[in-house]
Amino acid sequence: MSVMFSQPPRAGAEDVALSKDASIAWHELEGPGGLPMLVIDNALEDPHRVRECAWASRFHTPGPNEYYPGWQATAQMSGEKRLIQDLGKLFLDRLWSRGWPPPLTVADLVPHSTFSVFGMDHEVARRNGYIDQHVDTFSWIAVVTYLFEHDERAGYDRGTAFWKHRPTDLKTFFLGDLLQAAQIEQLFGLNFIDPFRKASVRLRAASMAEAQKQILENPASTRRLFSLEEDNHWSLLKFVPARFNRMVAYPTWQFHSIVDTSPIQALSTRNARLTYNTFIPYPVPAGLGPQPKYQGGGYAAIDGMRVG
Ligand SMILES: [Fe+2]
Repeated sequence: MSVMFSQPPRAGAEDVALSKDASIAWHELEGPGGLPMLVIDNALEDPHRVRECAWASRFHTPGPNEYYPGWQATAQMSGEKRLIQDLGKLFLDRLWSRGWPPPLTVADLVPHSTFSVFGMDHEVARRNGYIDQHVDTFSWIAVVTYLFEHDERAGYDRGTAFWKHRPTDLKTFFLGDLLQAAQIEQLFGLNFIDPFRKASVRLRAASMAEAQKQILENPASTRRLFSLEEDNHWSLLKFVPARFNRMVAYPTWQFHSIVDTSPIQALSTRNARLTYNTFIPYPVPAGLGPQPKYQGGGYAAIDGMRVG
């Protein structure tokens, strides 16, 4: 009898995977015990290959549902599901060190990724009402991997910034219904309902959407977009500078912004702020959450009733 072994996967056979040499560091955005954020240096096993794939992609300016101050291309890298499962596990183990409660599972995670290249004139963007601080709570964790060299001595800031909204003291925002907010607080460590209750009396808004708009929009501000400048609305909580092959992973409900103050006239594929961006969905089984309405047919004809 002969035993057949399947070929073990060649190291680096996937386009993306966490490197064995990755150094993982947790950072608290709200002081000890607050929401964790992950910074991983030497993150990807073969970042040069990913960078090559990225620059070989076709880029487009953002569509109506994409909000990005630059160019984007769809990224479909092999190994991506495993990568976001590994990252999801790191967060869930940190939140639930004695085992994850049901219904949490990373089995059904489907990644959504882009290659993104910053490229926007901050003055034109300001004139046209662009807002850099934002939240992305349609998914759970945002993962940004820097795929360009950044010389911190060059005098420009490039990276990702996290903010606190001064008038309300809010560091997070969740645009969804109360049940979702409660579940996400319970399962994923969101801390929003209590701070929002305190902030609510200072907001002149009749709905969550209006409150979010009021917080994010500050047309009178002269703050330079995509910079670390603070103003009367925003104070800087943390800045993570870009480094080649550094990965930053954070809960999407934290107010955050892209930082790049380098001159846009000098951007090229050699030096532009190229990132590999992946969103990790909420790690619950497929089918949990809103279901489609009944579409199975079976309606009876009623004799004598006018229809149509
Ligand atoms: Fe974002």
